[in-house]
Amino acid sequence: MADEKVKKFASVTELGTNLLLRNFLPKYFGIPSYLILSLGTITPKESRKEGGGNILNFPDFMLSLDEKFRCWKIMRSKIKNLIQTITGTSRSGEEPIWAGDGVFLSLFKEIEDRTLVSIDRCFNLFQLARYAAHREGDIAEVGVYRGGTGRLLARTCPKKTIHLFDTFSGMPETDGEIDLHKKDDFSDSSLESVRAFLEDCPDISFHPGIFPASAAALRDRSFCFAHIDVDIYQSARASLEFFYPAMVPGGVMVFDDYEWEGCPGIKQALDEFLADKPESPIITTRYQCMLIKI
Ligand SMILES: C[S@@+](CC[C@H](N)C(=O)[O-])C[C@H]1O[C@@H](n2cnc3c(N)ncnc32)[C@H](O)[C@@H]1O
Repeated sequence: MADEKVKKFASVTELGTNLLLRNFLPKYFGIPSYLILSLGTITPKESRKEGGGNILNFPDFMLSLDEKFRCWKIMRSKIKNLIQTITGTSRSGEEPIWAGDGVFLSLFKEIEDRTLVSIDRCFNLFQLARYAAHREGDIAEVGVYRGGTGRLLARTCPKKTIHLFDTFSGMPETDGEIDLHKKDDFSDSSLESVRAFLEDCPDISFHPGIFPASAAALRDRSFCFAHIDVDIYQSARASLEFFYPAMVPGGVMVFDDYEWEGCPGIKQALDEFLADKPESPIITTRYQCMLIKI
């Protein structure tokens, strides 16, 4: 199916750049070539509109919305990370604040091929987890995928118990009224591969299955840090309901994809949940926010 799309696209366009894209980007970025060919100029906003005159919207080359979103998300963070890592600069030309932090840079090197989270957001996770680790309580991540940010947390806080929650086999059911992701997105992972990736980390507790059912045995635990990277409304809502009361005072919750238009359910869940709470979201960088539990 994917090969068919590539062949048809190449034979119709006969563009040399497509060959380059097919060979270069998959090799260096590890992204399937059919997803690269489908990128074009399509951003989430544009792809919401049907039609639109782009060759990618011709029925033969039509990709599903979640393929486009996933592709866009991967490319966005991979390209940003690559440019910033190679040049040591941000888009503004200034040296990024993590450039002088050798500990972080070496940890990021360990995870960059297994995370969708951009380097600026990883740097925030690193700093905030290191700060929160001085408090009582465990560390948790909901939304582990291939283990990238989970490993970052485990290596940053080696004395803490790290709880990792994911199906490890793709998204659970999503809500078509709110979410743009579909069931089974992110299914190219497995519990075995994430276990292997984290095997040198001392105190990891894996919780495979659908959250919050997978957390039922942990109702009496307290947490100093939680990273919520779930992309969909229901999972973000469930994470807030579970972790908010379980956070120690001064504990930190970090939410990925806040205000990212590919994941509208994250902002909705947070804004609804916090409406009657004293905490408000603090934006750390684009598409990430945090809460400090009072
Ligand atoms: C964007 S990925 C996480 C990315 C990861 N933090 C990284 O470093 O690349 C989102 C993950 O959330 C998981 N997920 C979403 N809702 C879930 C739920 N209710 N229970 C279990 N896993 C869930 C999906 O299976 C997927 O692996």
